[in-house]
Amino acid sequence: MDQQELIQTLSSLPLGDIRYFNSIGSTNDEALTWAATGADDLSIVIADEQTAGRGRLDRPWFTPPATALAFSLILHPKADEKPHLSRIVGLAALSLADAFGKLGLAPQIKWPNDILLNGCKVAGILTELTWAGEEVDYMVVGVGVNVAKGAVPAIEALTFPAISLEHVLGEAPDRIRLLHNILTSFIALRPHLHSASFMAAWEKSLAYSGREVQVEMGSEQAVTGKIAGLGSDGSLRILDAHGRTVTVRFGDVRLRLVA
Ligand code: BTN
Repeated sequence: MDQQELIQTLSSLPLGDIRYFNSIGSTNDEALTWAATGADDLSIVIADEQTAGRGRLDRPWFTPPATALAFSLILHPKADEKPHLSRIVGLAALSLADAFGKLGLAPQIKWPNDILLNGCKVAGILTELTWAGEEVDYMVVGVGVNVAKGAVPAIEALTFPAISLEHVLGEAPDRIRLLHNILTSFIALRPHLHSASFMAAWEKSLAYSGREVQVEMGSEQAVTGKIAGLGSDGSLRILDAHGRTVTVRFGDVRLRLVA
């Protein structure tokens, strides 16, 4: 990635500082360390390659050089955002969906943090919070996008089918322009985090709406039923076989193929 062009392109946005690395362990780790020593709101860490990229549930996240978009945004949530921190993953997901929509694609959000194209994962989000006593001090929103075909891990390493933008578009889009579009959407949507229209947009973009799914929650009993929508905190509402609505706050959603 051309660092000069990156800085120049992002200069039109109201960001904090920018740190670019040709290669790094994990942009989220760098952002967490930077935030702890005082980074401004909307400071961003971007890397061409990650050697120890992390996904949810401590899964590795593959970021070979020149194939992917990997960045971490540092947020200092404002007072009016603090009651809605659980919606930030939705804010990032909607920003990605919006940017992919500008490429003529029809993305869907697989709750809580995956973006799907043609039913396959093209991007993931990892949010991490640091507390100062009872209050959130800062939040890191890590985003990984499979831009070129080489960003998609070997099938044996996948827990869910994956795809890249290049697979769908026929060519890999420009990573810097894509990043600019994602950040533009994030900045524009952020003031609407508290609103009903934000929740409606998030709900409208959900994959498998009204369909039979299974939500795996580690050692807890899996929940099965139809996706009924989102709670106001961004939790997933599942309508089970007994007509009860079950609220799910974390987990991996899988479509259930019922005969
Ligand atoms: C997931 O799907 O489980 C979340 C993947 C998040 C990956 C991104 S890449 C940039 C940032 N740095 C990391 O180490 N992880 C996130």
